[in-house]
Amino acid sequence: MRIITTVREMREAAAEAYASGSRIAFVPTMGYLHEGHLSLVDAARAHADVVVMSIFVNPLQFAPTEDLARYPRDIEGDSCKAEGRGVDVLFLPSEKEIYPQEQRITLNPGALATRWDGEVRPGHFSGVLTVVLKLLNVVRPHVLHLGQKDMQQALLVRAMCEDLDVGTEVRIEPTVRDADGLALSSRNSYLSAEDRDMALAIPRSLQAIRAAFAQPGKKETETLLSRGEEVLSSEPGVKVDYLALVNPATLEPREGRALDGDIALVAARVGGTRLIDNIVL
Ligand code: PAJ
Repeated sequence: MRIITTVREMREAAAEAYASGSRIAFVPTMGYLHEGHLSLVDAARAHADVVVMSIFVNPLQFAPTEDLARYPRDIEGDSCKAEGRGVDVLFLPSEKEIYPQEQRITLNPGALATRWDGEVRPGHFSGVLTVVLKLLNVVRPHVLHLGQKDMQQALLVRAMCEDLDVGTEVRIEPTVRDADGLALSSRNSYLSAEDRDMALAIPRSLQAIRAAFAQPGKKETETLLSRGEEVLSSEPGVKVDYLALVNPATLEPREGRALDGDIALVAARVGGTRLIDNIVL
């Protein structure tokens, strides 16, 4: 595995791969790698000759009140995991490398970011899209692999690639969960054993919605959401930011009956940790 730390060298490596006719797949991450990240590498490997992973904790997507300073980091462990899983190029730029000066241009994520995490975390998706576009401009991949775990992010990045003619195909890969159902996340490392038990209400609320949707008849959005809310409210330590059932094309709340393909989205805080999850009906 080749480790690259500068934009210039990454650009050159990508240009060489391009020139030799290789298909490049890209997996951007903020590190502290887990099976969710590594499943994206597996998906990338299946479609490409060269798999590039980046690890960059992007300050632009954290609000001043958020966990940028304490975001978990383990570059050595991550390098071993990436290499073991078949990453060809690990791009590890410094903050100065990505933001050599104050970023003058940032992206406006538009209507898909007005609600949910876009509302709770103002500026977050502008920071995400800005860094992802910068990384895409350096790596120039044929395919970009993102996790369904961060559904709003993935749909926004796909919309950016389409609307700005980036020329990269965006694939959204299934969420990897622990045996108890909790979606893997670097932020799970913040949870105490008690927090973790409480946090299980999050995937359970989504399962309750899915189970209610699978029953004949009762498919009114309100009925489905109240099933999920029951589960969440049974765990007072879980503070819900939102639980919603949305139209996948617009991310607007689904009115009336829920349809196949609608997305149940949840965000909640447990202890000091904010967790998100979702399922597609
Ligand atoms: P990070 O949270 O490190 O996630 C990197 C990628 O891994 C994202 O595409 C995310 O959706 C995916 N991922 C995380 N947990 C997953 C799980 N349990 N199953 C499947 N995929 C999972 O998302 C970011 O970093 C950043 O916002 C980034 C896109 C890198 C821009 O800074």
